[in-house]
Amino acid sequence: MESKRWVSLVFFALILVGLSYSSHLFLKDSDQQVQSISFVSDLKTTILGFLDETSWVTIEDIDEEDIKPKHDVILTPNLSSCHKSLSDAGRPVYCCPPKHESLEPIIDFKFPDVSEPIKVRKPAHMVDADYIAKYNKAITIMKSLPYDDPRNFMRQANIHCIYCTGAYNQQNSNSLLKIHRSWMFFPWHRMMIYFHERILGSLIGDENFALPFWNWDSPEGMFIPDMYLYGSMVDTQRDSSHLPPRVADLYYDYHERGLGTVNQISTNLAFMYNQMVSGAKKTELFMGCPYKTGKKGYCDGPGTIELAPHNALHTWVGSNLNPEREDFGAFYSAARDPIFYAHHSNIDRLWNVWNELRGNKPAIEDPDWLDTTFYFHNEKSQLVRIKIRDVVDNSKLRYAYENVENVWLNARPKPSIPPQISRQILKMRESRNPFLDGRRLDTTIRVKLHRPKTHRSKIEKEQEEEIIVVYGIDISKDMYVKFDVYVNAVDESIIGPESREFAGTFVNMMKGVRILLNKEDLVMKRKTIFKVGITELLEDLDADDDETIWVTLVPRGGTGINTTVDGVRIEYLK
Ligand code: C2O
Repeated sequence: MESKRWVSLVFFALILVGLSYSSHLFLKDSDQQVQSISFVSDLKTTILGFLDETSWVTIEDIDEEDIKPKHDVILTPNLSSCHKSLSDAGRPVYCCPPKHESLEPIIDFKFPDVSEPIKVRKPAHMVDADYIAKYNKAITIMKSLPYDDPRNFMRQANIHCIYCTGAYNQQNSNSLLKIHRSWMFFPWHRMMIYFHERILGSLIGDENFALPFWNWDSPEGMFIPDMYLYGSMVDTQRDSSHLPPRVADLYYDYHERGLGTVNQISTNLAFMYNQMVSGAKKTELFMGCPYKTGKKGYCDGPGTIELAPHNALHTWVGSNLNPEREDFGAFYSAARDPIFYAHHSNIDRLWNVWNELRGNKPAIEDPDWLDTTFYFHNEKSQLVRIKIRDVVDNSKLRYAYENVENVWLNARPKPSIPPQISRQILKMRESRNPFLDGRRLDTTIRVKLHRPKTHRSKIEKEQEEEIIVVYGIDISKDMYVKFDVYVNAVDESIIGPESREFAGTFVNMMKGVRILLNKEDLVMKRKTIFKVGITELLEDLDADDDETIWVTLVPRGGTGINTTVDGVRIEYLK
């Protein structure tokens, strides 16, 4: 054991040297010296802190032989591995249950009985006073339960912390298990709020109790719903300038655009159209990348809705006075705000809407996804083993959504300049090399891309979505990064998601945990990739038969300093 610890120490020391070195490079060409220095020293403290911790399982295992890919192994947490983890900004947090869950009896998930009433989730801005009183009562009881009780409100919030910060290792692997930024995003959150809803109902003896949904994609719902401003639904850690009557910015990037209510609403709707329809024509674009077990199975590629509005609204609601915009703005603390459950209820509803838009064909049939297994406590405090395949069809879970109009379906954006005119202007622009070789994203990058296929038929287009791939995105310092992708834009500095030229937005949340805690996560590829669907957009821009298009990457919120990209190309996605 001792020798293992030494090997680990040397291993970490090497990383520190590497980090210090890269931060020196960083110092030369940046004005953020103070920040980078404290980043390295924080890191040293954190690592030494961890090495002092005797119960720290991952460190003990760290020089284990390279783990071979285990294709027959399902993705599931190792319940006895719960450990300290790091917040999005790399600060240590501890969210584990008071006792190891692996010591509890486990039951397999069963669908609720068909005799159970269907719980109908309604828009949060439309519920009545009786409902609000009931929900308040349930939350009050939940908050008063002892922390030992898994139904306790903080314990509920910490489930999210555990799975979002990587407090569990995967079963049979040293890799951490994290449920954001991949195809686990929708099903995991469906499970979480399903159990939460049933616990709330049982605490007030109401089988009909259903969570509300925050209908932020509809003009009347684009505000923090009133019910979250009173009683046990209040969270004081919110950005006070974003309380009603402020309309939500579904594409928020840390700075206030000041669009005014009317423009903000129409921009939101156009953005929703892009994220739900034109940018989400293929499963991977909407659901996120296929995340599998072990080191080899890692992926980082969130779907459209997860990137924004999901991430954007977390940031928008959380308090600007807190370091990570807690509560809602940081995943480790997000579920402490009762609005979390209404936010995810809407995300969950949009998953259904997307399925309906594509005729409810099964989106993913890969057993690796279907068999991915998680654990939650139910309303009887029993620990339940549940698989993604159990939650693919929500009608079997005895809840439903009240029908609301999806206004954004009719908000297809229009080109900011008539395409005939922009084509003339773009012709005069000089051609550039699409291989950017680590071009820094601190200013706008424009490239002219050759399209391998033009004149595709309608059927070909349905079968294969044309996508822009931004590859080799390297975020050298772990930080929040956001950039937009535009097609054939003449002046991308004055347009946004309300214009058809907007193809998508990439958002990187900080993920300190991957650097520090784990050998397998250490060697993980740092570079990431971003895919955006553009078939419909090219039609609307009259560029469908053009042999070349202009693609622009625009950093947003002044966050591109530490980011480089290797290049941009066109691919076709089945
Ligand atoms: Cu798991 Cu809205 O985050």
